Amino acid sequence: MKKILELISQEVSSAFEACGYDASYGKTGISNRPDLCEYQCNGAMAAKKKYQKAPIMIANEVVEKLAAHMEAARQQGAVPLFEKAEAVNPGFINLKVSGEYLAGYLGDMASDADLSFEKAKQPKTIMIDFGGANVAKPLHVGHLRSAIIGESVKRICRFAGHTVIGDVHLGDWGLQMGLIITEVRHRQPELPYFDGNFEGEYPQEAPFTISELEEIYPTASAKSKEDEAYKKEALEATAKLQDGERGYRALWQHILNVSIADLKKNYGNLNVEFDLWKKESDAQPYIADMAEYMKKEGYAYEDQGALIVDIKEESDTKEVPPCIILKSDGAALYTTTDLATIIDRVKNYDPDEIIYVVDKRQEMHFTQVFRCARKTKLVKDDMELKFLGFGTMNGKDGKPFKTREGGVMRLERLISEINDEMYKKIMENHEADPDEARQTAKLVGLSAIKYGDLSNQASKDYVFDVDKFTSFEGNTGPYILYTIVRIKSILNKYRAQNTSAGGDLPKTILAPANESEKALMLELTKFNSVMEQACEELAPHKICSFIYDLSNALNRFYHETKILAQEDKVQQAGWIALLDLTKRVLETGIDLLGFEAPERM
Ligand code: ARG
Repeated sequence: MKKILELISQEVSSAFEACGYDASYGKTGISNRPDLCEYQCNGAMAAKKKYQKAPIMIANEVVEKLAAHMEAARQQGAVPLFEKAEAVNPGFINLKVSGEYLAGYLGDMASDADLSFEKAKQPKTIMIDFGGANVAKPLHVGHLRSAIIGESVKRICRFAGHTVIGDVHLGDWGLQMGLIITEVRHRQPELPYFDGNFEGEYPQEAPFTISELEEIYPTASAKSKEDEAYKKEALEATAKLQDGERGYRALWQHILNVSIADLKKNYGNLNVEFDLWKKESDAQPYIADMAEYMKKEGYAYEDQGALIVDIKEESDTKEVPPCIILKSDGAALYTTTDLATIIDRVKNYDPDEIIYVVDKRQEMHFTQVFRCARKTKLVKDDMELKFLGFGTMNGKDGKPFKTREGGVMRLERLISEINDEMYKKIMENHEADPDEARQTAKLVGLSAIKYGDLSNQASKDYVFDVDKFTSFEGNTGPYILYTIVRIKSILNKYRAQNTSAGGDLPKTILAPANESEKALMLELTKFNSVMEQACEELAPHKICSFIYDLSNALNRFYHETKILAQEDKVQQAGWIALLDLTKRVLETGIDLLGFEAPERM
């Protein structure tokens, strides 16, 4: 379905043309003076030079044409697009859309399964690399943004009609693995994993629980910083693991199993889902051939024992270091696994595009990986590699978010603190069954966290402000949910009053009866263009600001209109149809952001 601005521009353009001017001057936008008009065309001013004519004269002619069009439509019993077209000095054309036209436009939207949004004409296969948790390390808030933004981008791309594959790309191949293996070895040297002569089957049971594992890593990491010999041991263990030493691989498999079960639970609580649970280590089988190929084709050369590819470009304004493919000891680096992962993805999924949702401090790493992949022709020229870098989540002190005691905030703890806060608020608000309130608190808590994050442009740092994010008022997730719940409650009451319809709601949207209703309708017409922008720019924050404006418009209309007490049943049915559409639009919006609304709150 066409966007309303396109329809309006088309109408104004044909008036320009009918007056002998170029049609392109008819481009019309939303008015920045909503007190004067709804839409505004500044084409007459732009046409001044070409036609050597005062803009107001041009505007007057066009407006006369528009008025004639409106009249002709009325004569034919059709609905005119405009209710008012006015030329204003020095040459603005101010426009107001007619109520009947709006009602028809929204009626078409309501009967469309995609709410007037047009899916991609050429669907692509898009892989999204997000989440990026490291096994054996607790999920902390640093990984929260990747999960939240990635999940939303995944849903948005899917909504736009693309085939989307989300991959968690776990970190399981670097030094952290060697550190854990080393620490386990120090604690339990008798385990068969460390016995080079052991040929039997390794135990099924892991030698640690998730909470032990989460303690082992930080301990090992701290030790390695103070103890050179320990660090060396860990580096050796990493190399041996990557080399395929049997016992280390078996132990590593235990680390994976224990961690992944825990990660699935945590991501599940966030309503974040991955199609693939691939890992850095899945790239290992490609590494040797990749290095060989890069050498043979003359892309890579040896420098002080390491294998590197130059990726500098003339236009660089800052130094872009060469890409290291293998370290002098032959070990793989972060760039190595990312390049080899691209080979795996191309081979198995043939994506048109890969989007990486990662902390923006890793931008240089991705510049190196992307350039190297292109230069060495790991990807086709038309395949897109996109880095969606996000900023840091800070505390109120402007420093990276910490617990009150100053430690690293674990995701589980953050979520439960928010849920407790929401539970308190819900119980304060009204009497509720404690079990139901707990469930509701979970949904509302998630909206607080996700909306708080997504309403900011991803690349910017933002302050995680619990009091603000959990508030039922203002630009917050709970406020949006509150609005949806309000609509649901009206619709339910209406259903209860009109049982003869068997639960079906009326569908016919009427011309607005008052100003706040028209404002709500105008907001709704923006849906398809906002969605298009959000998809093109991978910008969930655009959806946030749209649903916030829409919620405000809905609440204003609600406060100014007695809907359930309305005696004119046709009028009432029209309002119910409008509320139902608003609810669908808001629910689509929050679904794309990755959360849902409760029945009550
Ligand atoms: N595990 C990495 C980290 O914690 C993030 C992985 C991002 N994705 C990638 N393909 N490099 O920093």
